[in-house]
Amino acid sequence: MSLIEQFGLRALRALDPETAHGLSLKALNAGLASLPGPATSPRLQTTLSGLALPNPVGLAAGFDKNAEAVDALQKAGFGFLEVGAATPRPQPGNPKPRLFRLTKDQAAINRFGFNNDGMEIIADRLSKQRHSIPVGLNLGANKDSSDRAEDFAKVIHHCGAHVGFATVNVSSPNTEKLRDLQGKAALSSLLTGVMAARDTLQTPIPVFLKIAPDLTDAELAEIVEVALETKLDAIIATNTTLSREGLHSPHKDQAGGLSGQPLFERSTRVLATLSHLTDGQLPLIGVGGVASAEQAYAKICAGACAVQLYTGMVYGGLSLVTRIANGLDDLLVRDGFKTISEATGSKRQDWL
Ligand code: FNR
Repeated sequence: MSLIEQFGLRALRALDPETAHGLSLKALNAGLASLPGPATSPRLQTTLSGLALPNPVGLAAGFDKNAEAVDALQKAGFGFLEVGAATPRPQPGNPKPRLFRLTKDQAAINRFGFNNDGMEIIADRLSKQRHSIPVGLNLGANKDSSDRAEDFAKVIHHCGAHVGFATVNVSSPNTEKLRDLQGKAALSSLLTGVMAARDTLQTPIPVFLKIAPDLTDAELAEIVEVALETKLDAIIATNTTLSREGLHSPHKDQAGGLSGQPLFERSTRVLATLSHLTDGQLPLIGVGGVASAEQAYAKICAGACAVQLYTGMVYGGLSLVTRIANGLDDLLVRDGFKTISEATGSKRQDWL
């Protein structure tokens, strides 16, 4: 990390986390961050549900909720981006404060509750951008919606033409009862509606499902069954956790979803279980606590075709993305893998 980036991160950490986050998006758009472009190599180049990625390190949803910094972010080193969550109508989210740094634990707790500009403004923004890497949209539901399942279909219908993929997010812990949509019957009907909306797009896009890390093996098995039945394109594992195991920071008892280091092991175990259950029939994207090349590689060896990160950048800066991608390349060389897909699932057994 450069001295300038170290200084910038220290300055941001002196501010309240939500203010710091807003400023970091502004700094990105003002050209204040170093933007090296996506790291790539023949080993790192890969395909995810038909999407060509220069490298398998993606930005997780929630960092750029309103698709405001896509131009800069696609030059920051990532192989793909996920923006959003977008809901049909704009909504303010939960009262502040709603984002907490847990520095001792290298973690964060958030209870944003899908604050966003709404699908119309977000679609307009996306439609004016030129995407040089795949940019996907995380789909959410309005808090006061009378039909949440229908909300997901509405957002993909409205925004689908402007993105490379869409993610059904039924795993945010910050919208009451949203996670209930992960149950078999509810999920099956929700995904059937989303796939039907996707099929009406002039160019249908891949649809991913993002799940929580707090599901039992039996619940995971049901999700895989529905995913295969509805011909979903990939599963993203995982969103934030409700667990508070092993935390040491003052904010550890705040309500919301926990992300960062304490999530790494739990989310990787879920990923490996999904890899075992799907046995190569569905691509998997590993998220949760990735803050080094070794951790990204561990997710790939546990069964992921690609990874995403968010909280790691709060502590490691944006340059972490390129360090992870280049480090991943070195690890592939070290272990004699010519491609990401050769490494995918090679150590799944260690996590089961
Ligand atoms: C998130 N995350 C998230 N996920 C999602 O599907 N939709 C969203 O809108 C958000 N919003 C959001 C806001 C904030 C502040 C954080 C920290 C996280 C979850 C995120 O995409 C990711 O799944 C988890 O944070 C775990 O990855 P990391 O952060 O440990 O790398």
